[in-house]
Amino acid sequence: MKTEARFEDLFRERIEDLYDAEKQIVDALPKLIAESSSATLAGALQQHLDETKEQVVRLETIFEGMGEQPGSRRCEGMQGIIGEGEQSIAKLKKSPVLDVAAIAAAQRVEHYEIAGYGIACAMAEMLGQEDTLLLLQETLEEERDADENLSEVAESILSGDDMGGEEEEVELVELDEEDEKTKRKSNPNATRSREKWHGSNDSHAAVRPLRCDDFGSRIWRSPLRGRR
Ligand SMILES: [Fe+2]
Repeated sequence: MKTEARFEDLFRERIEDLYDAEKQIVDALPKLIAESSSATLAGALQQHLDETKEQVVRLETIFEGMGEQPGSRRCEGMQGIIGEGEQSIAKLKKSPVLDVAAIAAAQRVEHYEIAGYGIACAMAEMLGQEDTLLLLQETLEEERDADENLSEVAESILSGDDMGGEEEEVELVELDEEDEKTKRKSNPNATRSREKWHGSNDSHAAVRPLRCDDFGSRIWRSPLRGRR
């Protein structure tokens, strides 16, 4: 039997769906991180895992604001997307191919979330739930950044620019100025990548070996954030 249609109910249902989706992502991301051969990708995924845990807390705050407990609704859409991604990766050895397969899976997740948070924001605004809207917008912004950053990592891997991690970074910082000029001529991609992560005028960064989470924080605070 059909029930009376109310935006309040639809909104609650969508928030419950997002809540379950985020929890599924928290469970799934560590597997992707463990399988990544690129330290750049692993750093980006780790950063987003940390953000996703915060997103779960934001949704719990929204439920508290509504005076309710999250229900046990299963987000079957996210379940399907994650399952398909895991199948795709399971048959591959650690490699750039697997990394790109992981990014393809992660970006499908992000696009699904962007759609979900976008309509949730619109409904929160229509319902006059300003505090909830701010929380949802914060997460929506993170999902968009995640998607854009994954695109950058994919581009870097597919073009052969991906520096991969500490070993290649150490190799770069050991170059003296003359070697740097030589390398610039023989491998312009390497220099472009270095500038991408450090900025071309950052002389201090050139002597500091990067850790994986440095890559992550640089990615997630990309200048792209300010362009929208
Ligand atoms: Fe999320």
